[in-house]
Amino acid sequence: MNIAELKLVASAIVAKQKGVLAADESNPTIRKRFDSIQVESTEENRRRYREILFTADGIERHIGGVILFDETLRQSTRDGIPFPQLLSSRGIIPGIKVDRGAKALALYPGEMVTEGLDGLRERLAEYKQLGARFAKWRAVVEIDERDIPSAFGIRANAHALARYAALCQEVGLVPIVEPEVLMDGAHDIDRCEAVTAQVLEAVFAELDAHCVVFEGMLLKPNMVIAGKKCERQASVQEVAVATIRCLKRYVPTAVPGIVFLSGGQSAKDATDHLNAMNAVGPQPWEVSFSYGRALQAPVLAAWQGQERNAAAAQNALLTRCQLNGLARGGKYSRSMESAT
Ligand code: 13P
Repeated sequence: MNIAELKLVASAIVAKQKGVLAADESNPTIRKRFDSIQVESTEENRRRYREILFTADGIERHIGGVILFDETLRQSTRDGIPFPQLLSSRGIIPGIKVDRGAKALALYPGEMVTEGLDGLRERLAEYKQLGARFAKWRAVVEIDERDIPSAFGIRANAHALARYAALCQEVGLVPIVEPEVLMDGAHDIDRCEAVTAQVLEAVFAELDAHCVVFEGMLLKPNMVIAGKKCERQASVQEVAVATIRCLKRYVPTAVPGIVFLSGGQSAKDATDHLNAMNAVGPQPWEVSFSYGRALQAPVLAAWQGQERNAAAAQNALLTRCQLNGLARGGKYSRSMESAT
């Protein structure tokens, strides 16, 4: 294993002012996103949409890496430049989602485990050949009013994440380890913190047992936040304090970067929360973003599947990238939202 190379890639992804664009929606997920703007999910529409994202001028100042889906990794620009090559030429590191989705965990009703380990070693080798330099695997943990998640559900997901991360490092890809505690549900911020703590503790125990080198990986966690249906929504400051407290307890400082998912927060909230965590820094790791919806929702709204809106869509992406770039340094304020 070339640890120096892994460290270099991991650090480059979370360089100052930079984060990750998660554009790795599976075909069923991108279909949902396209449905919201009445655009048909054809292979060409998916290709064109991703081309608009990846060719947006200026995003390279704030995007260190892009996560692609299998189909997208194999697609090209209109001029025939493969997307991984296009991104690399712009100084953006291409990555690949390699999990095959969360499925029901047998005999544990209401819980899920992520599939995709069988044949993963061979798939990773191919992805590397196609130009990927990092990978992502998402585990999903739901919270209910009673006893979900179970300790076993957490352990099963942590184990799969660690198997994946070890395979990535073996082949020379930086693993992004994503244990997502969902913000669906009515739980309060305290319960989210307690579950996130259990999850992170289990994940790092498994990563350690699998000999994963912490310096050569990135963590993509949820923020500690109240469930969407909870009556009392925590303030931006409360979210920042609880999230950093929880991470400091369970994430080794050898990990170079934390890249948060947005998980259904609005674009503005996701930026505000990231900013608040960096404003009280420095933290022991780079504190950055790997947003899907929080970067792309305004892009989809501007695009509407219309070619004449392509430039407006690219502007919407650049705006979110710039604001999150500022939040990386604790220099964002909500008042900038209309000004840019
Ligand atoms: P969201 O930011 O939309 O949660 O997506 C991030 C992601 O990659 C989920 O796996």
